[in-house]
Amino acid sequence: MPDPRIDIHLQPDHAATALAADARTGLTSSPKTLPPKWFYDARGSELFEEITTLDEYYPTRCERAILRARAADIATTTGANTLVELGSGSSEKTRLLLDALREAGTLEQIVTLDVSETALRAAAADLAAEYPAARVEGAVGDFTEHLPLLPGDPTRLVAFLGGTIGNFLPAERDLFLRTVRDMLKPGEWLLLGTDLVKDRATLEAAYDDARGVTAEFNRNVLHVLNRELGATFDTDAFAHGSHWDEEHEWVEMRLRALSAQTVRVPALDLTVEFAEGEQMRTEISAKFRRDGVERELGAAGFALSQWWTDPEGRYALSLAHAE
Ligand code: AVJ
Repeated sequence: MPDPRIDIHLQPDHAATALAADARTGLTSSPKTLPPKWFYDARGSELFEEITTLDEYYPTRCERAILRARAADIATTTGANTLVELGSGSSEKTRLLLDALREAGTLEQIVTLDVSETALRAAAADLAAEYPAARVEGAVGDFTEHLPLLPGDPTRLVAFLGGTIGNFLPAERDLFLRTVRDMLKPGEWLLLGTDLVKDRATLEAAYDDARGVTAEFNRNVLHVLNRELGATFDTDAFAHGSHWDEEHEWVEMRLRALSAQTVRVPALDLTVEFAEGEQMRTEISAKFRRDGVERELGAAGFALSQWWTDPEGRYALSLAHAE
């Protein structure tokens, strides 16, 4: 079995430079914000894995159930020879798709993209071992920037699972979908996972579990800033919160300063003041409705072919083709 080919699209210091820029922008804006992508260091990735097993956090279970039920259908409908997986963190669910494509006899190539070279190499090696008949190509890059560089020929199926599209603001979402559309030829496919609008209690609990795992995950971003930028956040001085924003139809995760705080960030030569009770937004997780998903896909040049939900209608998978 040949070693997977790995293309590196990121400079070695990309993460450090991007984190510094994001932290400066976010900590000096009003209200303060931090982008969710910095949750996922080794500890944060572990905590996220734990979140996916919590009673309150239904999206992972719902998506897996829909995929189990529909993978064969997806394989025969698309006839895809290449699966492009954006964010190799979702590899477990990707296997349901890969098994179905192999079963259907069309699978030739697997392309996987991740920002973490370590995670990507591990994922690519596992995939190469499990699907020896397929060519495995890994790309180290950012799915907001490096999509046009991904290899593969028609007919491709791009999978963007987990509801991660909900972390983008509406304008970022639109740009992302157009970028995916531009890398595809007419007739190629996108499989998109989206969490759906539902009652406030369910949504807020999904992002504020009783055991406090999500709180720990949220505060982990402060540990990342302390380690990478020498920041002096007292992580115990910030309380976790989740808030359903009904107008924007997204859940916000926030960190609230329990008392006035002065934080030094030496790598940015920056001092940041928090007032008592001040809230910093660390994530949005948008929730969707069928008409909105269909409209946004349409605006980007995709036509919705299939819309599948779990029996309770909590989560949806959309299968769309490029027009
Ligand atoms: C992996 C980005 C989809 O928004 O639901 C879980 C991350 N944040 N709990 C989400 C997350 C808090 C998750 N995504």
